[in-house]
Amino acid sequence: MPDAVAANAANPHLAQYNARGLAGRIFSGVQPTGNLHLGNYLGAIRNFVRFQSSYDCIFCVVDQHAITVWQDPKELTNQTREITAAFLAAGIDAKTHIIFNQSLVPAHAQLAWVFNCVARMGWMSRMTQFKEKAGKDRENVSLGLFAYPSLMAADILAYKATHVPVGEDQKQHLELTRDIAIKFNNDFAVPDFFPITEPLIQGAATRVMSLRDGTKKMSKSDPSDYSRINLTDDSDTIAQKIRKAKTDPLPMPDSEAEAEKRPEAANLLDIYAALIDAERADIVASFAGQQFSAFKNALTEVAVAKLGPIGAEMQRLMKDPAYVDSVLRNGGERARAIAEPILAEVYRTVGFLKP
Ligand code: TYM
Repeated sequence: MPDAVAANAANPHLAQYNARGLAGRIFSGVQPTGNLHLGNYLGAIRNFVRFQSSYDCIFCVVDQHAITVWQDPKELTNQTREITAAFLAAGIDAKTHIIFNQSLVPAHAQLAWVFNCVARMGWMSRMTQFKEKAGKDRENVSLGLFAYPSLMAADILAYKATHVPVGEDQKQHLELTRDIAIKFNNDFAVPDFFPITEPLIQGAATRVMSLRDGTKKMSKSDPSDYSRINLTDDSDTIAQKIRKAKTDPLPMPDSEAEAEKRPEAANLLDIYAALIDAERADIVASFAGQQFSAFKNALTEVAVAKLGPIGAEMQRLMKDPAYVDSVLRNGGERARAIAEPILAEVYRTVGFLKP
């Protein structure tokens, strides 16, 4: 028996999916907190679409994570629909797989409480995302922001998901999810109860950087809209943002080693490579020594070709909120049916009395 197959056979979590010709169960989430951008698409959503054929998938709009920082209630509702529209427009099949918003399934918050009592203060204090978001204002951020990774672990483990596709920035949170699963399994002497989830961080653009600063991550919260390409930007806006993207005065790099030293050039090359599914080395070779303007024209063309149809479909879906809501409602019901028995088993394991 090949090693991987033997390992899967020994892992009860994978074996049940393997028996159905699947590689495992995926869970991933996206926060409804602002414009979805190219980083979310290349780092996460595009991969979700690809994994559909080989995994049982659950995709969640994490509205409860969103309120760890202030959200305008109307905007939160609107953004929740917009992320759902993006999932659908990108090509996620909501009949075969599950799309829902987190607050529809109380098991997430219920399991998160148990995990708050499993995770250690020291583990949470080391989370770089918390440190970045809290900055110097630690005393004034919400308690929810500190506990954020515990809710994330609950999202994943409420479904005993085996794999989690994300961008590079979520890696540390997934390590914490593994630590929580291991500690729960050990503390309660239930080996193999929770799976030790594998991150899936894949593609040429697992960390897309800002168009204004190649050393900063492209982010929904950057005050400059020119720092990112939003999935709903029209072709003129995409062209303008790429034209204005920061570069350096030199011609295009002629080797990967040189690209590595020039963050803005490396970022644009990676975006191009990811959009056409190529390796960075191939793109470096195609544009070596050329002016940035020629490369930017080519990049605009591929970005518009890939993102244009998704943006248009999102706009169409956003005009039909009743349909979008029905997708979430249906997904929520199916998600509850999976998570509730798992939570019940956790409650029994912990010793909560259910007379
Ligand atoms: P969020 O909403 O910040 O981002 C959604 C997804 O997009 C990825 N991403 C990026 N990838 C590449 N380059 C970038 N510049 C970039 N920016 C964002 C993120 O890695 C993510 O995959 N904590 C999560 C949401 C979450 C979650 C979960 C994810 C809650 N529960 C359970 C997985 C499993 C977050 O804030 O993602």
